[in-house]
Amino acid sequence: MKQTILKLTVLSLLIGASLTILINRGAARGARNQNQPAAPSTAPQEKTVEQTRKNIKVLTGLPDSQLIPVMNYFAASMGRRCNFCHVNNQGQWDYPSDAKTEKNTAREMIKLVLDTNKTLDRLKLDPIACYTCHRGRNSPQSLPPLPLPVPSPPPGNPGGPGAGAPGQAPPSGQPQASPSPRPAGPSADDILNKYLQAIGGPAAIDKMKTLIMKGAYAGANGEKLNYEVQMAAPDKFHIAVTTQQGTVERGFDGSVGWEKSPRGVNELAGAVLDDLKATFLFYRNLKLKEQFAQTRARGREKIGDRNTIVVTGQTADKKTERLYFDVESGLLLRRISYTQTMVGVIPYQIDFEDYRDVDGVKLPFTVRVSAVDAGNPVSTRTYTEIKLNAPIDDAKFKMPAATKPSGG
Ligand code: HEC
Ligand code: HEC
Repeated sequence: MKQTILKLTVLSLLIGASLTILINRGAARGARNQNQPAAPSTAPQEKTVEQTRKNIKVLTGLPDSQLIPVMNYFAASMGRRCNFCHVNNQGQWDYPSDAKTEKNTAREMIKLVLDTNKTLDRLKLDPIACYTCHRGRNSPQSLPPLPLPVPSPPPGNPGGPGAGAPGQAPPSGQPQASPSPRPAGPSADDILNKYLQAIGGPAAIDKMKTLIMKGAYAGANGEKLNYEVQMAAPDKFHIAVTTQQGTVERGFDGSVGWEKSPRGVNELAGAVLDDLKATFLFYRNLKLKEQFAQTRARGREKIGDRNTIVVTGQTADKKTERLYFDVESGLLLRRISYTQTMVGVIPYQIDFEDYRDVDGVKLPFTVRVSAVDAGNPVSTRTYTEIKLNAPIDDAKFKMPAATKPSGG
C-alpha cells in the first residue's frame, strides 16, 4: 500500500515535473536585477517561505513557489541529495529539523552569497551563486591542478613576449553567457518570422484550435508511462498519465484547474496551477513573438551537430529565456527559461526533436525536459500520434464530480 501511495505521489509530481521551476512570480526580484525598477505587478503578492514554513532563518523573502526549486538547486550544486542537509528517520523527512550540521553550514553559505552579492552589485558585476564555487561537489576545488594547460599563442603574435602569461590562457570549458560582440546577421524578428513560416505560417497556426497528442512519458529511470495531452485554444487542457496503479489526470477549463487520481478529485490553485497553465498554453511554442517584451539575436551556437542561432527574450515581468533555432530549417530546437532567485539562477531546458508534418503544421514528436532536479533530471515525451483540430468535448476540461477514492 505504501508503495502505491509513493508511486502516486511521484506520478502527480511528474505530470507537472519540475514545472515550478518555469515560473518566476512577481515577488521574485533576483539578485541580478535588484537595481532595476521592479516590474509592475498586478498579481497578488505571493506568500514567502517564512510565512509558510516552520524554521526559516536566512531565506526570508523567498517566494514559497521557489523553495523546492532552490532546494533542488542546492542539492545539484553540491552533487548530493536532500539528505545531505536534512534528516530522514526511516523514510520520514523532517525538513524543519536543524540536526544536521550541513544544514547550518548551508545557512552560513547563503549569508556568504547574499553578502558577497552586495559587493558585486556595487561593482556592477554579476552575482555569485552556490554553483559558482561548488560545481556539483560538496567540497569546491581550490588548488589549481598541475600542470596548468599549455597556453595557445594569441593569434597574430605567435610566441611573442607575454604569450605564456597565465592570465592570457584561453578560458576553458564553460561557454560564457556574457554578451558576445553583436553579430552581423538576421535580427530577432527575422528569426522568429522564419520560425513561424517553417512550422506552417501564421494562417495555419491561427487555424489551430485543438491538439490531441498521445504517446509515452519516460522519466529519468526510463520507465515508460502512457501519456496523453488534449488542448483547446487559447488555454484549456487535459493531461493524463497512466500506470498500472491507475491514471492521474489534470485539467483546466479556462477558469478552474483540477487533479483527479485514484485518491480523489482536488481543485488546483496557486503556483501549481500557474505552472501548468504556462506549460500547456496552447500557442506557447507556436506564437513566440507575442510572449516577449524584448528580443535580441545573439549569434550562433551548436546543439549536437546542428548549427543554431540564438535569440534571447525578456517577458514583461522580466523573466528571461534563450531560444535556439536551426539555422537551416528555422525550427525551434531548444528553449531555456531562467528563474532568478536570491541564491542563484535556475535553468529549465526543453529540447524539441523529430519535427513532422501534421496537416500542414510542423510539430515536434519528441520533447525532452531537463531540470535542476536530481530526482528526475531528464524526462522525455515521445508522441506516436498528434491530431490537429479534432473535436474535443468541452466536458473533458471540466472538473469531474468527486468520486470516492478507490483503494489507496
Ligand atoms: C545544501 C543543503 C541543503 C540541501 C541539499 C537541501 N536543503 Fe532544504 N534547507 C536547507 C536550509 C539551510 C534550509 C533552511 C533555510 C533557512 O533557514 O532560511 C532548508 C529548508 C528546507 C525546507 C523548509 C523546512 C521548514 O519548514 O522550515 C524544506 C521543505 C526543504 N528544505 C526541503 C528540501 C528538499 C526537498 C531538498 C532536496 C531536493 C532539500 N531541502 C535539500 C538546506 C538544504
Ligand atoms: C565562494 C565560494 C562558495 C560559494 C559561493 C558557496 N560555497 Fe559552500 N563551500 C565553499 C567552500 C570552500 C567550502 C568548504 C569545503 C571543504 O571544507 O571541503 C564549502 C562548504 C559548504 C558546505 C559544507 C560541505 C560539507 O562537506 O560539510 C555546504 C553545505 C555548503 N558549502 C553549501 C553551500 C550553499 C548551499 C551555497 C549557496 C547558497 C554555497 N555553499 C555557496 C565555498 C562556497
